[in-house]
Amino acid sequence: MDATQISSELTKVLYTNDQIQERLTELAAQIDEKYRGKDLLLIGVLNGAVMVMADLSRHLATHLQMDWMAISSYGSGTQSSGVVRILKDLNTDIEGRHVLVVEDIIDTGLTLAYLIQNLNSRKPASLEIMTMFRKPDALSSPVDVAYVGFDLPNEFVVGYGLDYAGRYRNLTDVGTLAPHVYS
Ligand code: XMP
Ligand code: MG
Repeated sequence: MDATQISSELTKVLYTNDQIQERLTELAAQIDEKYRGKDLLLIGVLNGAVMVMADLSRHLATHLQMDWMAISSYGSGTQSSGVVRILKDLNTDIEGRHVLVVEDIIDTGLTLAYLIQNLNSRKPASLEIMTMFRKPDALSSPVDVAYVGFDLPNEFVVGYGLDYAGRYRNLTDVGTLAPHVYS
């Protein structure tokens, strides 16, 4: 679905799918340049990163493999706590591999900080992070993010893999939900 099909459920569209694809093309060029001649492993964080993984990987010319992790952060309500549980671990041994973590969105960065510490303990040859979206709080996180699609305002957004109560992941654009949807 695209934003026009559910316009009554959105207050605004922040990024259209065309804008997202154009930005991914630019980031893919940087990533290709960086990993030229190397064997790249993309690690997607389920479920949100499914869309960005599918699109970014197809914009890349570098040979690559994909693996997935599912994590859940324990936290009260909508705030993440940084205490993370692995629901699904990698199928791949990443020791000596060039790893790029592919994320949908970074808010406080607490989830990612845990993930990076965990992955670094497995001794990859290199470890970098790509995220499609980043919220303002992420700027005060110690985690260094090499590739960022778009910086967002501090609002809850849905679409392009991001959900509200499990819905809207299949919205091709990214936008903010109308208040009546929450109640
Ligand atoms: P932290 O704060 O640890 O959390 O960086 C990142 C995770 O929080 C979720 N998140 C969102 N999900 N719309 C969403 O659908 C949002 O605006 C949003 N902000 C944070 C998401 O699961 C992300 O991985
Ligand atoms: Mg997520």
